[in-house]
Amino acid sequence: MGLISLHNTWEPSSEPSQARMQKTLLIVDDEPQVINSIVRILRKEDIHIITAGSGVKAIEIIKSEPVGVVLSDQNMPLMDGIRFLEKVRKYDDDIVRILLTGYASVDSAIDAINRTQVFEMLTKPWDSDQLIRTLHRAFNHHFLAKENKRLQKVTKEQNLQLRQLNNNLEKRVAQRTQQLAKAVREGILMLSLAAEARDDDTGNHVKRIQFLTEATCKKIGIPQKDAERIGFFSMMHDVGKIHIPDRILNKPGKLSEEELEIMKNHTVAGEKILGESAYYAIARQIARSHHEWLDGSGYPDGLKGCDIPLPARVVAVTDVFDALTHDRAYKKAWSQDAAIEELIRLSGIQFDTDIVNAFSELVSDGLCEGLE
Ligand SMILES: [Fe+2]
Repeated sequence: MGLISLHNTWEPSSEPSQARMQKTLLIVDDEPQVINSIVRILRKEDIHIITAGSGVKAIEIIKSEPVGVVLSDQNMPLMDGIRFLEKVRKYDDDIVRILLTGYASVDSAIDAINRTQVFEMLTKPWDSDQLIRTLHRAFNHHFLAKENKRLQKVTKEQNLQLRQLNNNLEKRVAQRTQQLAKAVREGILMLSLAAEARDDDTGNHVKRIQFLTEATCKKIGIPQKDAERIGFFSMMHDVGKIHIPDRILNKPGKLSEEELEIMKNHTVAGEKILGESAYYAIARQIARSHHEWLDGSGYPDGLKGCDIPLPARVVAVTDVFDALTHDRAYKKAWSQDAAIEELIRLSGIQFDTDIVNAFSELVSDGLCEGLE
């Protein structure tokens, strides 16, 4: 018997679990005596055998039976073995194909490999033992291919489930992050309002400062996100006033030297209240340095020019403007024009000139219209 092996001869030490499933072999030959002879050889094997006298009939069987291996004759009328196996391959590539031929020229072997990717080519006459071994290897190959596909499908499904879990997890994390950010914003607002309560029980001062600061930051070229953060943290600029006694905070007249020193302390107290978390770094800069003057005569550190953090320089302008244009215990509200004039007068002394210019431009463009 001649044998042309197209696959390596590795065999698993134990068959996969699917190998215990029924082994269904389809023998296709137009000569009944050939079929009978093969059936006789295989009678003791645990193989379920189906036979067909033509390729056409065999195709019908394949569509209705769970065939694992096809053993087909090459020379058959109407549809030869190669054409038939080609159709089998197209229908289900997992069905292992063996070609039985009366001759085995190199040309016919190459043609069979290219067109049908046969598992093996057997030449007549065959050796019974070798035929049996070849068929068992073919079934092993079939079950391994099936098992491989099943595992690939399971892996794909598990990956899909993992992806879905991941997506859900990401969504939940994003949702929680949003909730947390909202809670932090609310906490900051509450703290800011508590600090301002004795000054302005409407809480509008801190909201105006936020609005004016964010707009000014954007006007001087600070990116949107950073401008929003600075605006947001500007609400806490006077949080340290919680420590200032009412008699000083709401004193209608001029503060004494001693009272002024206590009042100045709201900057350092504010920074301390805002803790050490990196998240509040800008808030701490603003709370500590919003009363610094450009010429170094401000408090609490006497910082000069660009040594004063930029967010604090912006809040210095918006805070004074808002204080001037609203009633306080010690003074009546100024007009916007008068307040801007004062800011310009103090540019380069108390305030950063570029910030004052940007802010006054915004105010003339109607920034404060509709503000309560
Ligand atoms: Fe202040």
